[in-house]
Amino acid sequence: MTNTVDWNRRSVRQSAHLHPYIPGKPVEQLLREKGLTKAVKLASNENPYGPAPAAIKAIRDAAAEVHRYPNGDCTQLKKALAERHGVTPANILPGNGSNEVLELIIRSFAGAGDEVVYAARGFIVYALATTAAGATGIAVAEKDGLTHDLDGMLAAVNERTKLVCIANPNNPTGSLLGEAELQAFLDALPRDVVVILDEAYFEYVQAVAGDSIGRLNHPGLITCRTFSKAYGLAGLRIGYAVGDADLLALINRFREPFNVSLLAQAAALAALSDTRWLADTVAESLSERARLESFLADAGLLGAASHGNFVLLRHAKASRIASELENHGVIPRPLGPYGMPDWLRISVGSPDENDSFISTLNPIMTDIGEA
Ligand SMILES: Cc1ncc(COP(=O)(O)O)c(C=O)c1O
Repeated sequence: MTNTVDWNRRSVRQSAHLHPYIPGKPVEQLLREKGLTKAVKLASNENPYGPAPAAIKAIRDAAAEVHRYPNGDCTQLKKALAERHGVTPANILPGNGSNEVLELIIRSFAGAGDEVVYAARGFIVYALATTAAGATGIAVAEKDGLTHDLDGMLAAVNERTKLVCIANPNNPTGSLLGEAELQAFLDALPRDVVVILDEAYFEYVQAVAGDSIGRLNHPGLITCRTFSKAYGLAGLRIGYAVGDADLLALINRFREPFNVSLLAQAAALAALSDTRWLADTVAESLSERARLESFLADAGLLGAASHGNFVLLRHAKASRIASELENHGVIPRPLGPYGMPDWLRISVGSPDENDSFISTLNPIMTDIGEA
């Protein structure tokens, strides 16, 4: 098919200059490309142990109902989440993954002439959603290349600033801000600036950091959480925001009526009640993360310690390491799109998957060392 139209010129937002979001390569694609029979994907920070058995049962039970539209209000799920967080259902906004919630918030508050402040190496969706909304993104460099520069972000806030986005822990840099510094930042912000606190990896820091919901204070604070990571429901797409009821009511107007599927609602509700599964798999991932980080440190490859369910490898030949890993059936996430060409992000897999990563990486590093 020949394309004779310059679609970029036609596009309202001139989006061709944006770096698209590059997801981790699917296992089937790698197997096909390399003629392999087995591959391990360590590129998307999923829970390698799968969803809670209670969630799988809830999906099976709900399967016979999928000829019906879901409950568009997510009534039961909102009630359960509200109880969990000590708020009311009006303080909860579920979405098709926290990604949808992030986009809804940005689209609701930022448009042409407005600015959205985020970290230069923050989650890439903030920049994409800001551009899609026709607003201007202000990317503030991290202090040490890894940690949000809250003073710098504050200095970037002006009368055009509608939103600030902070991921804590941050993806992809793995850094974590403490509650006191976050509260000091919130206190210094104008009261009418909306703050997205994206806590997609919250469950991995819960034991040390505690629950920020109900403790951090700012009128425009919206905390986003997901069922995609520790809860093991990435494939179903469900996340949610917690914030001021009036604020969420405005955002809710942009939402499509049935944005969270019937299966996702059933699974999330069941997953919430299976606290044992969550605690066990998080503990397992944290212990595997420690094992991977000590392996990388011993090999002189540890880029930085991470607070998420991923580790960070740093080497001048990171892109060669990535392609060699893929040649041998291990899929990492190169961080070039984040301006970190020397870095790879490796999700913490199951013990077997992590063993595969280690045993695949060792000979690659020997080859690179000898080259
Ligand atoms: C920081 C952060 N926020 C949000 C998301 C989106 O997650 P989901 O849309 O699956 O809830 C991710 C996914 O990787 C993430 O790393």
